[in-house]
Amino acid sequence: MADKKAQLIIEGAAPVELPILTGTVGPDVIDVRGLGASGHFTFDPGFMATASCESKITYIDGDKGILLHRGYPIEQLAEQSDYLETCYLLLNGELPNAEQKAQFVSTVKNHTMVHEQLKSFFNGFRRDAHPMAVMCGVVGALSAFYHDSLDINNPQHREISAVRLVAKMPTLAAMVYKYSMGQPMMYPRNDLSYAENFLHMMFNTPCEIKPISPVLAKAMDRIFILHADHEQNASTSTVRLAGSSGANPFACIAAGIAALWGPAHGGANEAVLTMLDEIGDVSNIDKFIAKAKDKNDPFKLMGFGHRVYKNRDPRATVMKQTCDEVLSELGIKNDPQLELAMRLEEIALTDPYFVERSLYPNVDFYSGIILKAIGIPTSMFTVIFALARTVGWISHWKEMLSSPYKIGRPRQLYTGYEQRDIVDLKDRK
Ligand code: SDX
Repeated sequence: MADKKAQLIIEGAAPVELPILTGTVGPDVIDVRGLGASGHFTFDPGFMATASCESKITYIDGDKGILLHRGYPIEQLAEQSDYLETCYLLLNGELPNAEQKAQFVSTVKNHTMVHEQLKSFFNGFRRDAHPMAVMCGVVGALSAFYHDSLDINNPQHREISAVRLVAKMPTLAAMVYKYSMGQPMMYPRNDLSYAENFLHMMFNTPCEIKPISPVLAKAMDRIFILHADHEQNASTSTVRLAGSSGANPFACIAAGIAALWGPAHGGANEAVLTMLDEIGDVSNIDKFIAKAKDKNDPFKLMGFGHRVYKNRDPRATVMKQTCDEVLSELGIKNDPQLELAMRLEEIALTDPYFVERSLYPNVDFYSGIILKAIGIPTSMFTVIFALARTVGWISHWKEMLSSPYKIGRPRQLYTGYEQRDIVDLKDRK
């Protein structure tokens, strides 16, 4: 992978030769691992131009708006596959054949329940706690049930941990919701598909078991697919960094959930609905566009912009189609928030500020409108994102641990005091 070389000319020092590595597709990278010998580090806060690892899982072409999972375009997976197939693909590198799929689905179904004692963890939370706070807590608590039976250097242990996490996240997410509602928690059902089971645990009660709408289950499954993985985003990088210390996978996923919560990342889906409520009416759009452009105003157009996509986020396109399908299935005509969102997108995409900065709707812009139509409260939106992204996180964790790796330990540019001596308290001014 390293035929080409880069030469770094540093004033007053010998030139430094650095290998250039070439991947299957996408930008070449300059391998700076040897740079330390020159007495220099690279400096790249926010990792704007830094590849943190080599990966075979997902590839994004931000200029063309392309997203591939193990080479398959997200549009094809959303249309022709389902979430558990996509999980198998991300975890194992290939789509399953019929026998492999049946085996995987059966294995996942046999791990959907959580330890009964986990229920007592919920009682420590206020009922009105933010669902992401509870999710961080209970997913991290899984460590307490498996930490001692888990050798992260054992491929079989890594495999079962990945299956346990994919299988249990819907159960835990639904438990978080039921706890917030003061309703009894529902057990998973093995006769239902992954998405049907989630909607069953969310909206059914012991008093009444209603059939799950196949259209809503399909929409839920597609939303899971669209959120499954996305290269080295902030939360995935967090999981990799936590995993590089040898922490158990449940603790690593809890770290990923915490990183996802921020409104600049997975918390944006909740923030979009809050923003649309704040805008309220089409007549206020111009005022909020002006706020988004005002450097002195921290307001940003939530659901717009992306570090990598400088074209449309292909997930947003599929999400918008799904939005139309769900709303028409539910007989919701002229949904005011959808109308407002579409008008906002229209106006923003004709404004030079957004066009010059390639700020397009991202995955979070329309997802909330669908989730709300399905009946999921806004505060649960990022929990849904975390549920779906768990397979991406754990696939990266598995990939990292499957070959030699080092603990992640970035360096810094230090601009603080040089060494100085402490002054006794009595002598300090
Ligand atoms: C996700 O990384 C991933 O892959 C994430 C994700 C995944 O699947 O894991 O795709 C999921 O997190 C999607 C993004 C969700 N976040 C939001 O929708 C929040 C709103 N978006 C912004 O905060 C922002 O666009 C980011 C955080 C998404 C990206 O920020 P960057 O790459 O650091 O870009 P930037 O902030 O430097 O913006 C470049 C310029 C700046 O203006 P100038 O300094 O050039 O004048 O664009 C402006 C920014 O002020 N800008 C925005 C804006 N986003 C960027 N201005 C107004 N509204 C916005 N939404």
